[in-house]
Amino acid sequence: MRTQVAIIGAGPAGLLLSHLLAAGGVESVVVETRTRDYVESRIRAGILEHSSVELLKSVGLGDRLTREGDEHRGIYLQWPAERHHIDFHDLVGRGVWVYGQTEVQKDLGRARDAAGQEVRYDVRDTQVHDPDDPYVTFTVDGVETRLDADVVVGCDGSFGPTRSVVPGRTWERTYGYSWLGVLASVAPSTDELIYAWHPDGFALNSMRSPTVTRLYLQVPADTDIGEWSDERIWDALATRLGHGQDGWKLTRGPITEKSVLPMRSLVQAPMRHSRVFLAGDAAHIVPPTGAKGLNLAVSDVALLAPALVALVREKDSRLADEYSDRALRRVWRCTHFSWWMTTMLHASGDEFDAQLQLSQLRWVASSVAGSTGLAENYAGLPIGF
Ligand code: FAD
Ligand code: PHB
Repeated sequence: MRTQVAIIGAGPAGLLLSHLLAAGGVESVVVETRTRDYVESRIRAGILEHSSVELLKSVGLGDRLTREGDEHRGIYLQWPAERHHIDFHDLVGRGVWVYGQTEVQKDLGRARDAAGQEVRYDVRDTQVHDPDDPYVTFTVDGVETRLDADVVVGCDGSFGPTRSVVPGRTWERTYGYSWLGVLASVAPSTDELIYAWHPDGFALNSMRSPTVTRLYLQVPADTDIGEWSDERIWDALATRLGHGQDGWKLTRGPITEKSVLPMRSLVQAPMRHSRVFLAGDAAHIVPPTGAKGLNLAVSDVALLAPALVALVREKDSRLADEYSDRALRRVWRCTHFSWWMTTMLHASGDEFDAQLQLSQLRWVASSVAGSTGLAENYAGLPIGF
């Protein structure tokens, strides 16, 4: 087989890249290890930044998002006995959208179907060969296939094989805690997300729809999920989110999914080696506290697609040569913001740290300068920042 751009991974980065390339007249083939059902039902991100939403709308992917998604003006920042609304609209003139990654995946999948795009799900043994004249091999039902391409893009997430084909440097930070995430069939108890600092550990009250709530608890890194009964989870959420505080109530409901998510930061640079490029989690991972992972996948491919169109169609390599540096500028901004939100909100076990965190939270919530910085980064900087 031969195509212009071989894309490894049918997550948001891979499918959106294929969509943007097609709009620029470049053909691609996408290969994915998982089944389509699995990819479309994997519970992950829930927040889209303003610029991600604008990009999706501009390429015909915004209809269901604007109909079924929920635009939020800001977030609540909380610590015991205090809850403060940070109004992004008032501070920086733009907000964020609650729209599940599952829905983004479905919209992308349908758009690719409508365009007759080839996506090979359920493949095995994906390997990238010869970065100067690249090709990809994989097996389907035990039969090996070779896919030759002008360019290969690794959109294969944090554990995919492409990162190891791109030599460079990695920077990494692990945190001594994880998140226990649950999905519950109950109406959200809040109109906008609550980020709560608590001496027992961080808690987050998010949502997916008027009938589905998404909640997270900070837990130790080596947590066995079997130790967390539904009742223990709800009790911890009630304590940390302040059930009863100023009359606010956390409504409980059936938990339909629970998992423990490790927290880490990682950046690989450069995001290109010869004719092999990286985009999304394949090149960088952020802890979820800043809600940046999905948005960085979108901004990477928004920069990469025009670069590949120019490279493949016009043999003009200028944008492709700039891609890694331009993408990394935004990646590092979001890496810093995600680290900053994470270290401000999670209990580290150190009493001195706890007092610094509370002081910082009070400053962010009460100062226009402090809250504007949070708002500008959370609602998102322009894609070309
Ligand atoms: P992925 O979505 O990981 O896609 C990579 C794809 O490559 C996968 O489908 C994988 O199966 C495939 N693949 C891997 N290896 C191979 C191979 N060898 N061959 C072929 N295919 C392969 N981000 C936000 O912006 N906001 C949030 O609110 C947020 N919350 C999150 C909450 C949770 C619980 C988690 C886990 C993540 C969250 N994130 C959030 C991060 C976000 O989900 C990721 O950053 C996003 O999925 C990255 O997209 P991607 O396409 O780069 O990678
Ligand atoms: C989510 O809804 O899954 C979510 C929201 C905000 C975050 C992380 C995850 O910071």
